Amino acid sequence: MDYSLLLQGEPEQGAMSRQQRLYTALRAAILQGTLAADTRLPASRLLAQELGIARNSVIYAYEQLIAEGFLHADRRGTRVATLKMASAIGASAQPPQGLSRRGRAFATPFADVDTVQAFTPGVPSLADFPIARWQRCVAQSWQKVTPEKLAYGHSAGEPQLREAIAAHLRAGRGVVCDASQVFITDGTQNSLDLCAKLFADVGDIAWIENPGYGGAANAFATAQLQIKGIPVDLDGLAPQESDWQQHPPKLIYTTPSHQYPLGSVLSLARRLQLLANAKAVGALIIEDDYDSEFRRSGPPLPAIQGLAADAPVIYLGTFSKSLFPALRTGFIVVPRALADSVATMLAQCHPRGRQVEQIALAQFLHSGEFASHLRKMRRLYAARRDAMQDALHTHLGDIATLYGGASGMHLSIGIPSDFCDQRISDTALAQGLVARPLSAYVIGTPTPHSNGFILGYAQVPCEAMDAKIAQLARLIRMA
Ligand SMILES: Cc1ncc(COP(=O)(O)O)c(C=O)c1O
Repeated sequence: MDYSLLLQGEPEQGAMSRQQRLYTALRAAILQGTLAADTRLPASRLLAQELGIARNSVIYAYEQLIAEGFLHADRRGTRVATLKMASAIGASAQPPQGLSRRGRAFATPFADVDTVQAFTPGVPSLADFPIARWQRCVAQSWQKVTPEKLAYGHSAGEPQLREAIAAHLRAGRGVVCDASQVFITDGTQNSLDLCAKLFADVGDIAWIENPGYGGAANAFATAQLQIKGIPVDLDGLAPQESDWQQHPPKLIYTTPSHQYPLGSVLSLARRLQLLANAKAVGALIIEDDYDSEFRRSGPPLPAIQGLAADAPVIYLGTFSKSLFPALRTGFIVVPRALADSVATMLAQCHPRGRQVEQIALAQFLHSGEFASHLRKMRRLYAARRDAMQDALHTHLGDIATLYGGASGMHLSIGIPSDFCDQRISDTALAQGLVARPLSAYVIGTPTPHSNGFILGYAQVPCEAMDAKIAQLARLIRMA
C-alpha cells in the first residue's frame, strides 16, 4: 500500500498537525475498508521515512487509533482491528427495500461457517487430499491446452469428463447411462437449482426428506415450489399412502444411499416401492448420491436410477466429498428420454467454461488417481467412524441413540426430548466444536428423530476423537 496516497486526500491546514493528518487519514481508510481488518501497518520508523515526517508523529497517530479501538498492537505488530459496525440510530429491523419476497426468506442472519473443525459435517479430510497429484493433472491439462479451450466451451461440460463420469457411475454405482445423459454443474446446489427450474413449475409440490438437506429446501423455495416434508425413519424415506394421495409430488428429493442427516440406507423394497409410486403419479425422483463412495458395510445397494430401464430419476453427484468442496464440480444424470431437451435448455441458461479444470479432472479419473484416493479415504473414514462410535458408546451410551454409520463421513445421535439440541449446539460452538442440531434440519413438523446432532468425523484424527466426544458429552450432560 502506498501510504503517501492516504495523506494526499487530507488538507494541509495550518491548524492540523502532521500527526493529526495521519491519524485522520488512517481512521478514514479503516472506516472505508481501504485498510481491511487484520492489515499489518508498517513499523513507525518505516512509515515516518516513507512520509517524510517525524517518527513521533506516526507513534502518536498509532497510539491514538489503538486507544480508540481502530488498531491493535501485539507481538505481530500493529494491525487493523475487526470493527463491528453498529446499526445507524433509528434503523429498523425492516427487511431492506428492493428484495423480492423469495429473496427476503434468505435475508435472516445465518452463520456462514467457513472454519472446518471437529465435527463439521460434509467436509472431507482436506489434509489428506493428494495436492501434488492433483497439481500434476492440472499442469498437464494446461500444457496441452489449445486456444479454443479458452473459449466458452460446452454448456453440458467437457466431453471427456462426461465420459469418465459415466464410466465411473456404471461401474461403481450401477447407474445406467452414457455420457450424453451426464451434465456437468457447479456442484449439487447448482444441480438442485437446475432441477427446480427444468423439471417443476411454480406451485408444484416437491417432497423433501424430514429431517433433510436444507440446500434442497432452499433451491425449491427459491423456485417457488410447495415443499412437503416427508418423515424419515431409520430405514430412510417413509411416505404414507395418504401422502401420495393428498400431496402427489412433482419432485421427490431423497438421499437413499446415506440419508442426510440421519444416515439411514433406503432398503431395496422401499426403493422399488418409491419408483413404482413415482411412476404412477408422474413424479421425478431426485437421487442425491452425495457421499456413497464411502460405503463400508451392508450390501452395496445400487442407485435407484439403475433399478429400472426407464426409471424417472435425476441422479445427482458431486466431487465436494470425494475430492474437495472448493472444486465446485458436480453433475446430473438425466433419463435418456430427457437428455436432448436438457442439452438444448442448458445451452441457453447454463454457464460454460472451466474446460482446463474439467479436463484435469477427467485425467484424474482416467489415471486411477481418483480410485486410489477413494480407497485411501475409505480406510481412513472407517477408522475414524469406529473411533467416534466407540467414544460415543463410552461417553454417551446411556442417553444417546446412534444413527447411521454404514457410509459417508458422519454419524448422528438422537438425545431425549428434554434436552434442547440447539442450545447445546450454541454452547459447543463457543468451545470450538461444531455439533449441528438435528432440529435445524426439520422440514415441516419435528419427528421423533429430529432432536440430536449430526457429527462429522472426517476431520478428526482417531487419537483426538475420544477427548473431543468427551468434551461434547460434558456439555450435553450439563444441559
Ligand atoms: C445432502 C448433501 N448433498 C450434496 C452436498 C454437496 O453439495 P455441493 O456439491 O453443492 O458441495 C451436501 C453438502 O454438504 C450435502 O449435505
